[in-house]
Amino acid sequence: MKLSGYLGAAAGLALSLQAALAAGVENRIIIDADGGKDIINRNLYGHFSEHLGRCVYEGYWVGEDSPIPNVRGIRQDVVSALKEIKIPVLRWPGGCFADEYHWRQGIGPRSTRPTMINTHWGGVTENNHFGTHEFLDLCGQLGCEPYICGNVGSGTVQEMQEWVEYMTFDGVSPMADLRRANGREKPWALKYFGIGNENWGCGGSMRPEYYADQYRRYQTYVRNFSGNAVFRIACGANSADYQWTEVLMREARGQMAGLSLHYYCGSGRKSRSATQYGEEDWFSLLKSSLFMQELLFRHCTIMNKYDPEKRVALIVDEWGTWHQVEPGTNPGFLYQQNSLRDALVAGITFNIFHRFCDRVRMANIAQTVNVLQAMILTQGEKMILTPTYHVFEMFKVHQDATLLPTDVRCRDYAFGTEKIPGLSGSASRDKAGKIHVSLCNLDPNHPAEIQGDLRGAKANRLAGRMLTSSSITAHNTFEQPSQVKPEPFTACALTDSGFKATLPAKSVVVLELE
Ligand code: AHR
Repeated sequence: MKLSGYLGAAAGLALSLQAALAAGVENRIIIDADGGKDIINRNLYGHFSEHLGRCVYEGYWVGEDSPIPNVRGIRQDVVSALKEIKIPVLRWPGGCFADEYHWRQGIGPRSTRPTMINTHWGGVTENNHFGTHEFLDLCGQLGCEPYICGNVGSGTVQEMQEWVEYMTFDGVSPMADLRRANGREKPWALKYFGIGNENWGCGGSMRPEYYADQYRRYQTYVRNFSGNAVFRIACGANSADYQWTEVLMREARGQMAGLSLHYYCGSGRKSRSATQYGEEDWFSLLKSSLFMQELLFRHCTIMNKYDPEKRVALIVDEWGTWHQVEPGTNPGFLYQQNSLRDALVAGITFNIFHRFCDRVRMANIAQTVNVLQAMILTQGEKMILTPTYHVFEMFKVHQDATLLPTDVRCRDYAFGTEKIPGLSGSASRDKAGKIHVSLCNLDPNHPAEIQGDLRGAKANRLAGRMLTSSSITAHNTFEQPSQVKPEPFTACALTDSGFKATLPAKSVVVLELE
């Protein structure tokens, strides 16, 4: 038997391999139930929506004259579904689109707004009907914080300065007056503002030294108007580009509240299907998702060197799976299906985010509706929820809870000559004192018996929910929308030391202990 040690954020509870073997326990999670100090920021469950394919148009925006039920042009089935998962923050308008977006084209009467070409995403005509007012209305309807990404690549400092003035200035000024003329008397509260997107690539092909200087310059003019304090986020690294983080932290840490990071898994395998795959692809994608652990560790190590107080947040403002588009759809629209495998990626990634929550304080999955690892797929007036949506719903209990130090010991899941840990897990205590344990069984072939040791607390009630299926490719379609959905989980019981559970093969389980 092989055991993988997977040390938690405060790894004071290591169970020795020998002790585990002596107890005959293959899988074990030890939870310091009365410990913990770091909060799992709700914004780790954030979203990203770009003017890309059918995300904004059709996904949210159907227009006021649409037969699809809407409020001021925004479809209500999508709003209700996202409220159900407590969407905390929404990043917009891109992505690569952000560095070609000129906000003034998206205000005023829609009939007079100019069009533009969406060069990155299919070369289609963008009519600018969804602009600043519509986005901030959407956030208001969702009850979430807006996170706007400004244009550094092809925009000017003045343009960025005036956008922030337009949205947040309460007094008399050219931009505030323009906002009023467009029907919005009071400014909006806008906390999160990104200074460019992927400026190492689609946002201007800059070197980190050059971008660091550009960042310092642009952010100077992103003003705190009328008591609105802006949380300025610098463009961060592409995956394992540690030099980018090094230079940005060295040159501009004093001017930033957050530094971003982008990581897609599967993006090196774009030719692979979202729903037709075997165990090799299952293994390979889950292995790629586990790389987030190494990425966060290494980027955080650099940030710790320059910012040991952890003032600057690491913001993973694009993450998720990237597969082949659905057959017959525009390759530039990135419309992909979403299976149980994507749900496992989401569960694994959240368990990793939790462990780094002292530094990682926001993450935004790409992208909410109809693009990449979406929560929701739409087809005309129809809407379905993906397996990834269900993980967000099951894991919402962790939002703003206290991370509990945990130690997960588990068997490996081996495929061919490679192996990865068979389980992923994390635990938190919410404000009402309930403990939630989220567990993923990565092995598609074998259930996993796990023993849970609660240290410092005694539970009297245990309940659980699970997401699984008999097939590794299970997914929801418009014809069969409920193939993958949460079910009650009953293969668990309280024990003298905590609990025990048998996790089905290829499953995501959330336990609640009181
Ligand atoms: O999410 C799709 C694209 O991926 C974004 O526009 C870009 O920032 C990233 O490369």
